[in-house]
Order: sequence, then structure tokens, then C-alpha cells
Amino acid sequence: MRLLIRNIKQIVGLVAEHKDKVSGTAMASLSCIENAFLLIEKDKIIDFGSMNNCLEHADKIIDATGKLVFPAWCDSHTHIVYAGSRESEFVDKINGLSYEEIAKRGGGILNSAKRLQNTSEQELFESAWMRLEEIKMMGTGAVEIKSGYGLTVQDEIKMLRVIKRLKEKSNLTIKSTFLGAHAFPLEYKQNHQAYVNMIIKEMLPIIAQEKLADYCDVFCDRGFFSVEETDQILNASAKYGLKPKIHANELDYSGGIQVGVKNKAISVDHLEFTGDDEIEILLHSNTMPTLLPSTAFFLGLHYPPARKMIAAGLPVALATDYNPGSSPSGNMPFILSLACVKLKMLPEEAINAATINAAYAMEVNNELGSIAIGKKANVFITNPISSYAFIPYSFGSRLVETVIINGIVQ
Ligand code: NIG
Ligand code: FE
Repeated sequence: MRLLIRNIKQIVGLVAEHKDKVSGTAMASLSCIENAFLLIEKDKIIDFGSMNNCLEHADKIIDATGKLVFPAWCDSHTHIVYAGSRESEFVDKINGLSYEEIAKRGGGILNSAKRLQNTSEQELFESAWMRLEEIKMMGTGAVEIKSGYGLTVQDEIKMLRVIKRLKEKSNLTIKSTFLGAHAFPLEYKQNHQAYVNMIIKEMLPIIAQEKLADYCDVFCDRGFFSVEETDQILNASAKYGLKPKIHANELDYSGGIQVGVKNKAISVDHLEFTGDDEIEILLHSNTMPTLLPSTAFFLGLHYPPARKMIAAGLPVALATDYNPGSSPSGNMPFILSLACVKLKMLPEEAINAATINAAYAMEVNNELGSIAIGKKANVFITNPISSYAFIPYSFGSRLVETVIINGIVQ
């Protein structure tokens, strides 16, 4: 089966095959072709180029006059398996309580954990499935999903089994992350080490045996997991082959970036509190700094210093953090708008951050994250628009018209 997209106004996001990410000043350039065709065979991109060189042999042809083609977004940080919602805390925040104050009185992550513990695996699967379908139609072609609302052996495993089923059933590319170290359950507030031991001695062995996760995450921040606790957990997970992708420096200069880099994290995520020392450490690592601007937007935090990071030569990735507490949205186009408006990233930088760099942050850059021959045909076609900058500019508009996953129109 060959699918030809012809008369494309512009193909956006061509990246040479050997490039696994883009960093620093290179983030501001985005390779494109005007008046182009894209040829897909089965689930792969097999050719693209100028319309002057387009051969018309295909089983199905889509005319994309006036429209742009993008590589599908990679959303490298989400928590889309959850039960219920937390709009009452949203109102508490409007009335002046902070995220940390809500968490201290048993709300926040513990509120979601209570609900999840009382929800069946099947119900969790069904609600997460709806969220997956929702983000797909906004142009997301790959997504990382975390556990972390179980916080007991049984419920963390239940969440990871849901993610495993999503992987099996969905045509999106999915990575699974174990986040047992998301918060201390109330009964462990005075005995952190006992909960860390439970993660290490009880949860990790089952997860490894059932192959339930690709990565291990820890919320290393003020009021959550300390650097020492994070280090213990990442050391233990490494023994099972789980690489780190961690929550770091959202609430303070927590040392999370340092302990993540020390443990060779694939990514460190959030990074609202990133100073010169943290930037220096990241510059000497292969860890992808991942920014989640909708969390700062929703919680009213200050934004991470994206400009400073890029000026120093770092790559950055963007993701949604889709979760019920700090970012109840999986809308990648809106993330690009926030990146441009609030982080002062250029549209080119935001697009690179949400595609090739986000693919790197979930280790799928060999098959996704750009338009290149041999890569998976996960792409989307926009409505007729004037330029790629129109995507972040026109915030809140639905501009993704046709989504193609594994070469199939959705
Ligand atoms: O990425 N920061 C930690 N975890 C989530 C929030 C989870 C929640 O509030 O439910 C985050 O923002
Ligand atoms: Fe998160």
C-alpha cells in the first residue's frame, strides 16, 4: 500500500538521519521543502521532494494544496493513566492555596492516588484510552506514560499493566515509566526509608520480571524525594536495566538535575529552577532538558529559563505533562504557543523541541521525530495555513486536519 501526499505547500521538519537531536543555535533552523510530495509505503516514509520530481504511482493520493505536513509530535512526559479529576483543587488554587500547601494537607498526588486505588484496571484503561485518542487527533504520534498514582505495590503494578495494554492496543508509539517515587503515602511521612525500601525491594523486582517499564522516574524536589533517596532508587533501577527520566527542579534548586545527570538520565524534566551550575552540568551530559510550560502556566510558577539554556548551547525538548493536578491537557500545539509566548522560544525552536528533541527524550529518535526516509510515517497535515509559525501563533485553534499513524489515515 502506497500513500502519496502531493502539492504540499511545505514539508516541515526534515532532519538528516545521523542527527539525533538539535542543540543551541541550531535549534533556530528548521529544514523545509516548498511545493512538495511525501510518499509513504506501508508504515514508512520512502520518499519526499519537490513536486517537479513527483511520480504518481500510489494506491491512495491526498492533495495537500495550501497545507503543511509535519512529523507527528512526540510527547515525552505524561501521566495519562489516572482516575477522576481535581478541579476542586483548581478552585482552591484560585482562592490562594499553593500546589505545595494542597499537597501537604493530603491533596494533590495523594488525592489522585486514593481515587486510583479505588478504580479498576479496566476503568483506568478506558479513560486513558480516550485521552490517547484525544491527543492523537491533536497530532501526537508518540507518548511516554508514567505510573505514580498507585503508591502501593498492587496499585503501581495495576497502572503499569494498564500502560502495557495501551501499548499493545494503540497504534501510537508508547514508552512506559515507573514513577513509584512520585509522593510519600501518608503512612510513610515519618518513615521515608521504609517507602524507598518498598520501591526497591518489592516494586522494582516485579516490574522487571513482568517487563512493565522502560524507564524509572523520581520526583526529586523540595517536599518530595531528596537527592539521596533519588540516588538510591536510580541505583536500584539501573540494576534492572531501567534508565532514569526524572522530575527535577520544579519547586526549588533541588539537586535533581545533578543526581539525574550523575545517573545518566535520558531526560530531566520541569527545570523551572535552573541556574548556571545546572546548565554547566547539563552541557557535559547526554541528558535532554525537557520543559513543561503548561505546568508553570497552570500552577502560576515562574517559567524555566529556556533562552538561557539554548544560548548556552543546550538542546531542549517540550512536553505536556498531561496529568490531573498540574497540567490537565495534552494539547501539544498549545505547548508550542506557551513556549513561544512565555519561554520566548522561536517557532523553529519550539517545533524542533516538540519533535526531534522530544523523540530523543524518549529514545525513539531513530524512527520518529522528523521527516526522513526510512522513518515511521507518523505525520500530520494541517488546515490551509500561511506558515509554520501560524501553529504557535494561533493558540487554541484546531489546525491539525489529518493525522497519519504508521502510514494509515486516522
Ligand atoms: O509532573 N511534579 C510532579 N508530578 C506531576 C504532578 C502530579 C499531580 O499533581 O498530580 C507533574 O507536575
Ligand atoms: Fe510530570
